[in-house]
Amino acid sequence: MNTVPAIDPTAAFTIEAETPRDVAGRDALLDRAMGPRWRRKSSEKLRRGRLPAEGLAFVARDADGRVVGTVRLWDVMVEREISPRRGEIGNCRALLLGPLAVDPAMKSAGIGSALMRHAIAEAARRGHGAVLLVGDAPYYARFGFSAGKTGALAMPGPYEKHRILALELDAGALDGARGVLKAAGRKAEAARLARAA
Ligand SMILES: CC(C)(COP(=O)(O)OP(=O)(O)OC[C@H]1O[C@@H](n2cnc3c(N)ncnc32)[C@H](O)[C@@H]1OP(=O)(O)O)[C@@H](O)C(=O)NCCC(=O)NCCS
Repeated sequence: MNTVPAIDPTAAFTIEAETPRDVAGRDALLDRAMGPRWRRKSSEKLRRGRLPAEGLAFVARDADGRVVGTVRLWDVMVEREISPRRGEIGNCRALLLGPLAVDPAMKSAGIGSALMRHAIAEAARRGHGAVLLVGDAPYYARFGFSAGKTGALAMPGPYEKHRILALELDAGALDGARGVLKAAGRKAEAARLARAA
């Protein structure tokens, strides 16, 4: 039996902050758009048990309020060569974007682009320096992403190297960035306990 409600692909949509009430609809949408593989991606290692970066989880809703698109950004840390001559290494914070998904019934209606533009603008407004993701360059290039600064970066699990892409919000934010991305976000359990206290 098909339990997914029919969606009118001509309906308007809005972009809003994700709320706890969106979680079930969001995960069902990810299953529909990507299949179970989204839970096994190496990016998921950086997301599991963490909360998205503050104020950087968004949904697209159709006219009836149903979740038809999702994007979240996550705090990560990478090493950074501060002075290659002196061999000095520091750390550099960035955001990891994903998963981005749109309901298959609403593809090519501009929802993915609207989510991306909204998320990038909000990340910049909040003062973040760079956004990383693992994805298809032909899609993400339109938002300014490229592999130009990601050659020395790696994911903590299987991935295709050429698919690590980045967008600097501050020019030079990823200069010297290298090594395996590490999770740096707020822990979900700690936040739950703090709320319960
Ligand atoms: C990728 C995705 C988020 C795009 O969302 P969308 O709302 O359909 O995208 P938009 O309407 O903003 O843009 C559609 C355009 O992007 C193109 N496009 C979509 N996916 C693409 C890809 N992987 N590579 C290149 N172009 C792509 C479409 O062909 C279309 O081109 P057109 O404008 O010339 O017709 C959506 O198709 C989706 O959820 N896919 C499954 C999940 C997924 O793979 N997510 C990660 C992407 S790497």
